[in-house]
Order: sequence, then C-alpha cells, then structure tokens
Amino acid sequence: MRPPTQRQRKNATDAKTQKRENHADKTAKNPLKKTAKRRKKIKNTKFQDIIMKACFMGLGYIGLPTAIIAAKHGIKITGVDINAKVVEKTNAGELHIIEPGLGDLLKEVVASGMLHASTTPEVSDAYFMVVPTPFKGNHEPDVSYVEAATRAVLPLLKEGDLYVIESTSPVGTTEAMAKIIFSERPELEGKIFIAYCPERVLPGNVIYELVHNDRVIGGLTPESTDKAIEFYSQFVQGTLHKTNSRTAELCKLTENSSRDVQIAFANELSLICDKAGINVWELINLANKHPRVNILQPGCGVGGHCIAVDPYFITADFPAESKIIADARELNNYKSFWCAEKVKNTMLEFELKNHRKPTVAMMGLAFKPNIDDLRESPAKYITTKVMQSCNNADILVVEPNVKEHNVFKLTDYREAYDKADIVVFLTAHTPFKELPWRDDKVILDFCGIFKK
Ligand SMILES: NC(=O)c1ccc[n+]([C@@H]2O[C@H](COP(=O)([O-])OP(=O)(O)OC[C@H]3O[C@@H](n4cnc5c(N)ncnc54)[C@H](O)[C@@H]3O)[C@@H](O)[C@H]2O)c1
Repeated sequence: MRPPTQRQRKNATDAKTQKRENHADKTAKNPLKKTAKRRKKIKNTKFQDIIMKACFMGLGYIGLPTAIIAAKHGIKITGVDINAKVVEKTNAGELHIIEPGLGDLLKEVVASGMLHASTTPEVSDAYFMVVPTPFKGNHEPDVSYVEAATRAVLPLLKEGDLYVIESTSPVGTTEAMAKIIFSERPELEGKIFIAYCPERVLPGNVIYELVHNDRVIGGLTPESTDKAIEFYSQFVQGTLHKTNSRTAELCKLTENSSRDVQIAFANELSLICDKAGINVWELINLANKHPRVNILQPGCGVGGHCIAVDPYFITADFPAESKIIADARELNNYKSFWCAEKVKNTMLEFELKNHRKPTVAMMGLAFKPNIDDLRESPAKYITTKVMQSCNNADILVVEPNVKEHNVFKLTDYREAYDKADIVVFLTAHTPFKELPWRDDKVILDFCGIFKK
C-alpha cells in the first residue's frame, strides 16, 4: 500500500480534530452522558466502594478544573487552597482563573452542593496534591508545597484511602511523601493506596482534555495503581495507562523535556541560518517535506511554567546523564539573550546610519501566541533587557491580550507598527499576521510572522 500523501495526512488530521470537537460539543452539552455506564463498569471491579468523596489540595489552573469535572461526575469534592481569596471566590461560584466554559460548570457544582472550597482539608476517601512545584534559585526542584499539602491531609488519612500526587514532581517524590506519611502514621503502612498521576492538559481546552486525554497512572504498588485508575475512570474517557510511580513521574518530565529539546533544535537552526544568510523558515519548511522529518518552529526562547521548568527536574537529579536536556535548556535560554543583543545592535546601526535614535516596537509579551500568560516569558525578558539598555527611550510595548500592565505601558499594535522604525516580533499573535509587510521599516521577525 502506498503511504498517505501530505494532503491525505492533513485531511485525516482535520477529520480527527473535527471529530474531537464534535465530541467535545456533545460532552459539553451533556457531560454526564457516559457516567452512569462507567459507574456500572467500575462497580464490577475488585474495589467494591467507588470513591464518592475527594479532597483536592490546590485550586489553581489544574486543581480547580479537575475538582469541578470530578464534582460534575458525581464525586463530592472539598477543594482546598491556602489562599483565602481563592476559597471565597470558588464558594461564590466565581472562577479565579481564565478557562473557557469552566465558569458555568463551577456555578453548577457549587449550587448543587457537589463542590465546596475550604482553607483546610476535610475527611474524604481520596486526596489529591495539585500544588505548585517551582524550582529554587539554583534550578533545584522545590517540593515543599507538596510536602506541606501532604502534612495537612496526614491526620485525616484512614484505612482504604487513596492519596495521589498530580503536581509535576522529580523522580522519587511519591516514595518520599509515602515515607513521610508512614513515619507519622505507621499503622497505615500497607493499608492505604498511594499513586502518582500527572496532568497534561492544554490551558484553554481543559474541559475537553481533562476528560479525553490519556493519562499515565503509577502506584507504589499494583493495587495502588488499580485504586487510582478506579477513581479516574469515573470521569476520564481517555485510556488510563498503568505503570509505577517513578516511571509516571519521569514520564511527565520527559514529555516537556522532549518539547524543549525539539524547540532547541529549531532555535539552533535559526542561529546557524542567521550567520549563513539563509531563511530559517524556508529551510525548515523544505526539510519537513521529508516524510520522516518534522522540525518545530524557532522562536525567541521558551517560556511558561512547564516546558521552561520541568527539564530542570531531570537535570538536577541526573546531571551526568542528561546532557542533551541540559544543553537544550541552555540553548533556549541563550536564544532569548541572543534576540535581545540582536535588537540592541540593530538600534545602534540605525542610530549610526540615521543620526537619531530609533523608535522600537516590541510586539508581544506573552510566552506563546494568543494567550495573556506572561510567566517565564522570553518576550518579557527581551523587552526588559532592551528597555534597560536605552533607558526606556522610544520603546513601544505591545501585548494585545493584556489590557493593562503594572510595569509596561502598553500601546495598540497597529499604532506601534505604524510609528516604529524597528519592529521586533516576539510572539506570533494572530492579529500581528494581518499587518502588511513594510519595506520602510527594519523588521526583526523572531517568531515567523512574515517568514521572510
Ligand atoms: N498549569 C498547567 O498548565 C499545568 C499542566 C500540567 C501540570 N501542571 C503542574 O500542576 C501543578 C499545579 O499547577 P497549577 O498551574 O495548577 O498551579 P497554580 O499556581 O495555578 O495553583 C496552585 C494552587 O495551590 C495552592 N496551594 C499552595 N500550597 C498549598 C497547600 N499547601 N495546600 C493547598 N493549596 C495550596 C496555591 O494557593 C494555588 O492556588 C504544578 O506542579 C504544575 O507544574 C500544571
């Protein structure tokens, strides 16, 4: 049989996407559709009591949507957060994060009494740690939030309970938390179920992905894995893949490190092409015509709180073995530095040629297109570096997805494009793609708006 052509592959992908979207629509209309069937199936498993009461520690971008979806599927939820404002808003049925469609679901589960929030945990059948796992100054992972949340639920644990870590964590964290639990509550050893189950949803599409994505579930024992699978089966329709806790922990870190390494390859090509006088966009497009090559697009670095963070959880623990992962992290950081230097040099060249300082437009602050999230954003880093180098003079900062910023005075993107002598594209927001190419400007296109 002949392999499918690129168009056939694209059509197949479009059809798949359409199917997922149609399914998402149907599920959004009737998210409980499959629950009754699933419950019946679960009742036939070896665990007779399905989990009816769960406690989610951390009501952020991941914990809150998961708690809401679980509540919507008939599990009574206590959502816990140390931030009293988050608790207050949640109990008022107000979403404190931005996520399409989730606000209505929250109102519904709060009104029906299936979810309530609190600053302290309550006795439940299952406990989920969904708290931050940042890194410290030296890029060492900081699991102190997971430990604090674990210590908070420790006194409530009883025989038969399920304890799950969802937070992205270094290898061995689940074992380390089990050690803490059993040193404080030795009578529970062998009597509770402990597992790790990482999250891989895409913000903006969380309701669909929470239900339909496959998940990896790793228990400390096979029984723990089964118990955790029993819980997630109540609302996840994707496949639940069984493994052990260490593999599940490394799996999450591997997924994001893989993205980081692949982006680093594209960024490295962009540096080579800049020196060689070759258009990197054309180069990658041509290389990707090979049936087994799929290079990602370069940008001005890697940001956000996942891809730019998680690889350090591997490099910190396995420094001798993780050469490529460490180099990729370094290269993606270097790309941001390189972009800032390129802007500064272009400004100097302009000044030497025109005997006046240029007006510069920095287009985009978010860490990826069409979002308002500026966390760990390379675009923000580059803009700050450039502004510091010229005492903030004549720099127009643009971020169409943010109304106001406490550090940057924001300018409309059309106005900035019109006024600037040098235009620096940092984030590939869709509105930027509608701007016409202007020969009268110096354009530094780090994110492929024009691909010239
Ligand atoms: N956001 C994502 O897209 C994403 C995707 C996959 C995995 N993750 C991982 O999921 C975890 C949570 O991420 P997030 O984006 O939801 O974080 P977040 O910062 O949005 O939310 C975490 C919440 O936990 C609360 N908290 C902190 N300590 C607590 C404690 N001891 N008890 C109760 N609540 C506590 C905080 O007040 C905060 O509201 C992290 O490990 C992250 O790496 C995030």
